[in-house]
Amino acid sequence: YNQKRCRAAAEETNVPRSMSTRAQLYERVFPQYRQPVEIGVFSLDSERAFFNDSRQLRYYVEPGNKPNFNLRDGYRDRFIKRDDGVKERLDHLLRWILANRAKLRSTHTPPSSCTLGVDFVTWRGHLTKLLTTPYETQEGWLLAVSKFRGTLYISEVETEAARVNRENRTERHEEMMYWGYKFEQYICADEVNGVPDRGGVVNTNEAFCTVVQTRLADHKLLFSGEVDCRDKDPRAPPAPACYVELKTSAEICTPKQRSNFHRYKLLKWWAQSFLPGVPRIIAGFRDHDGVVVSVETFHTSKISQLIKTEYNCWKPTVCMNFCSDFLSFVKSVVKEDNPRLVYLFTWEPHREVTYTVHRDSQYTFLPDWFIKEMAS
Ligand code: A3P
Ligand code: MG
Ligand code: MG
Repeated sequence: YNQKRCRAAAEETNVPRSMSTRAQLYERVFPQYRQPVEIGVFSLDSERAFFNDSRQLRYYVEPGNKPNFNLRDGYRDRFIKRDDGVKERLDHLLRWILANRAKLRSTHTPPSSCTLGVDFVTWRGHLTKLLTTPYETQEGWLLAVSKFRGTLYISEVETEAARVNRENRTERHEEMMYWGYKFEQYICADEVNGVPDRGGVVNTNEAFCTVVQTRLADHKLLFSGEVDCRDKDPRAPPAPACYVELKTSAEICTPKQRSNFHRYKLLKWWAQSFLPGVPRIIAGFRDHDGVVVSVETFHTSKISQLIKTEYNCWKPTVCMNFCSDFLSFVKSVVKEDNPRLVYLFTWEPHREVTYTVHRDSQYTFLPDWFIKEMAS
């Protein structure tokens, strides 16, 4: 035991304890990012129950150039809100992995192998946060990492600040969070030849998720992200290229507002859609009263061109290189293969990324049902 501990300590002295997030450090050539491939899908129903199929997939219906969408409609009487105090961690994705384990093993690893054949498993949303970190000045993050059977699982932990914000949202902010989902309802049909049901209930428990596999530099990634809808044309390219992301934003009236939109919003929109290879973003611009005044299409691959007119603007290569280096940092730190051991990576704006280690703590996130089932 002692010998083991000494070796562990010696190893620790060779690994860096922190990592810088300064953008200039990541201005290198764009790292290799393999075209993401969809390897599966799953759905969460109106009660947040998991299904290993596409039952919640919706179809994009073109809104026309003069839509009449009131995003406030139904907030009081036709809205069922997911309880965001319930922390689901990686559970739905882990359920998908168990349900598709045989397929995963045979396509990506030798049939006899008991590993998944990927370096990282996480949510797309966690990777989006990593991509935007070099430019983020408001919100920090906490990412818990455990190594299990050679794969590093990354699961976000809510920061104290985020919890305080969540528990103290204003009534206006609560309502505005509904507007994005209401916009989806105006644009999406449940059936391929259907029409949107603007009088229906908005239930934010419902979700359709894609599971993709890709590689960033030498990191093999498996992640899942929620998809708003798909192109209904049966001749559309295969997923994820047929997927469409829907967004809302305040209407742009001044050069300052346009600049802020480019600098902050488009960064987040680009990162979110670039990761899973979603090519199109449909944006509804709304006025102060939640009425959509215009709809615009953004092509994910053209966003970086669009923002180049901004002085000192964000760069996709910085986002991707930072993410790649962070994943290398995680690989160098997390050596012990043990689902009950959590390395908690912490970052606050204007600080470096650091980490702490926790054994059998509140941070353990790989559930027993997953560990047991993977062992059988
Ligand atoms: P908008 O995208 O129009 O802002 P997504 O765009 O990722 O599909 O998310 C759908 C909607 O969920 C968002 O609409 C927004 O209303 C809400 N939402 C998503 N992430 C959120 C967050 N971090 N905080 C608050 N609301 C969020
Ligand atoms: Mg969505
Ligand atoms: Mg959306």
